[in-house]
Amino acid sequence: MHYRTLGNTGLKVSAVGLGTNRFGGKVDFPTVNEILSAALDAGINFLDTADMYQKGRSEESIGEALKGRRDKFVVATKFYYPTGEGPNERGGSRYHILEAVEASLRRLQTDYIDLYQMHRWDAETPIEETLRALDDLIQAGKVRYIGASNFTAWQLVTANAAAQSHGWTPFATIQPHYHMLERGIEAELIPACVYHNIGILPYFPLAGGFLTGKYRADAPPPPGSRGEESSYVQGYMTPENYARLEKLGAFAEERGHTMVELAHAWLLAQPQISSVISGVTRVEHVFSNASGADWQLSAEEVAAVNEILG
Ligand SMILES: NC(=O)c1ccc[n+]([C@@H]2O[C@H](COP(=O)([O-])OP(=O)(O)OC[C@H]3O[C@@H](n4cnc5c(N)ncnc54)[C@H](OP(=O)(O)O)[C@@H]3O)[C@@H](O)[C@H]2O)c1
Repeated sequence: MHYRTLGNTGLKVSAVGLGTNRFGGKVDFPTVNEILSAALDAGINFLDTADMYQKGRSEESIGEALKGRRDKFVVATKFYYPTGEGPNERGGSRYHILEAVEASLRRLQTDYIDLYQMHRWDAETPIEETLRALDDLIQAGKVRYIGASNFTAWQLVTANAAAQSHGWTPFATIQPHYHMLERGIEAELIPACVYHNIGILPYFPLAGGFLTGKYRADAPPPPGSRGEESSYVQGYMTPENYARLEKLGAFAEERGHTMVELAHAWLLAQPQISSVISGVTRVEHVFSNASGADWQLSAEEVAAVNEILG
């Protein structure tokens, strides 16, 4: 494993991190505990959750598994999505953030969050209100760094300009949808992040599992896999994508690597990537994903992969 800085902060995170949106759901509490132990064995120190994952159960399962080893992990979580029925139990208002952070701290059984992320832009709340509330949390020691997710380039740059003009802490990171088959952020968001030194944390790095190569055009999805029920994964099951996968798999194999490693290595070869947060449901996924960080693609190899992607 190697470690990268989180945007323009001094914080070091593992190049491969842990995505936890199935924790407390498909992944039961004892398995979460085992997965966190495996992550440490693999050198992974960064994990990403959100208050809405499994209605708080992801944070709860992580809170249990972190007991006695909280300091070994950089813990990222998120606020924004509804946490209840009320009109103020959602969004980026000061009101909701102050409630949401206490609930996350309680579920995670910790007194600080390393990276507190806004899950989406809130068009109904002035970004200054959100940033001021987040800066207060940093001053209070409840939050160490802040990040954004699913923002466009203009939203991110506008937010950070506002923070800067008021002397508040800016967003250090952005968490966008990004993988070999989903490259929309390359036009605007990546150049903005390069210019402003904002760290990128790609989510769905494996296209929900499609890019592991475990789905075949001529066979049903493996029993228990996400592809059995997820329309997101099934959306990638086209003849064109299977043809790409075959070539990508051969490219990896010729170089002594797996498709899973290639999916990670390709992302890590893109500019500004701080950590690739791969979701896992089994202990063995942790090790196969982590080994993707050990393959550094050359510029020629990246170009060859891009050629295959078309
Ligand atoms: N900010 C946002 O809006 C946002 C949105 C989505 C996700 N996220 C974050 O990003 C993380 C990653 O996303 P994700 O988990 O949905 O998608 P992903 O990382 O693209 O895919 C993960 C899934 O692929 C399968 N898998 C993983 N490693 C594997 C391996 N080595 N071999 C075979 N199968 C493997 C597992 O599913 P099965 O075993 O069930 O097949 C796993 O749940 C999330 O956990 C979450 O923290 C953020």
